[in-house]
Amino acid sequence: MSYCSIARFYKLIESVTIGRSLLDARLAHLQRLAAGPAIQHALLVGEGNGSFLLPFAQQFPNTLITVLDQSPAMLRVAQVRLEAAGIDTTRITFRRADLTVEQLPEGCYDLLVTLFFFDNFDAATVRHIVPVLERASMPTAQWILSDFQVPNSGWRRVRARIWLTILYAFFRCVAGIPARSVPPTEAILATTSFKQTARSTYCGEMLYSTLYRRQ
Ligand SMILES: C[S@@+](CC[C@H](N)C(=O)[O-])C[C@H]1O[C@@H](n2cnc3c(N)ncnc32)[C@H](O)[C@@H]1O
Repeated sequence: MSYCSIARFYKLIESVTIGRSLLDARLAHLQRLAAGPAIQHALLVGEGNGSFLLPFAQQFPNTLITVLDQSPAMLRVAQVRLEAAGIDTTRITFRRADLTVEQLPEGCYDLLVTLFFFDNFDAATVRHIVPVLERASMPTAQWILSDFQVPNSGWRRVRARIWLTILYAFFRCVAGIPARSVPPTEAILATTSFKQTARSTYCGEMLYSTLYRRQ
């Protein structure tokens, strides 16, 4: 899998599809985070072109941020975007890493962020990555998860299935993603020490954004 060939066009692809809803889902919990305890060190996994990173870095100027992504091109686009916005990137580490094999330092991060990342993988891979991230988190860490979902019934379900068929076909073709359908990521997180504290849906319930806190 590689997002390198579409890194420069990723924002454009979003803007001609469901970009507004994707952004709403990404930023859903920023105000809640700002009202809570100070965040010392955030880990952004599969962050892509910086759509979350930029507003997050602006709103949390004292937080250390580690950005891990498999695609050097995506990391470069994100870094350039931040520099163009005048953000001091010295507190931000951009690192190329494949989370399917990467080992992370234990108990290091008080915020984990995985946005439209797990829907690239099958359930077995998500089951492998989630405990790696759990071990990397501090005892009271929070976790923002956003992904696609298929609503249970009605026209929203039909609409989501059509969108997801198109999106999976597109990303399988241009980025070689291994997944064919959305994995049960929320059910997998429910087996961890993280408990859901807030959840919202977007775009006819096709997108969700969930905030967890480690208990
Ligand atoms: C669908 S994009 C999502 C980007 C961004 N989080 C967003 O909200 O739009 C998936 C991102 O995950 C990265 N990625 C895919 N597989 C990965 C892996 N095994 N390890 C780390 N990053 C990966 C891709 O390079 C890409 O930037």
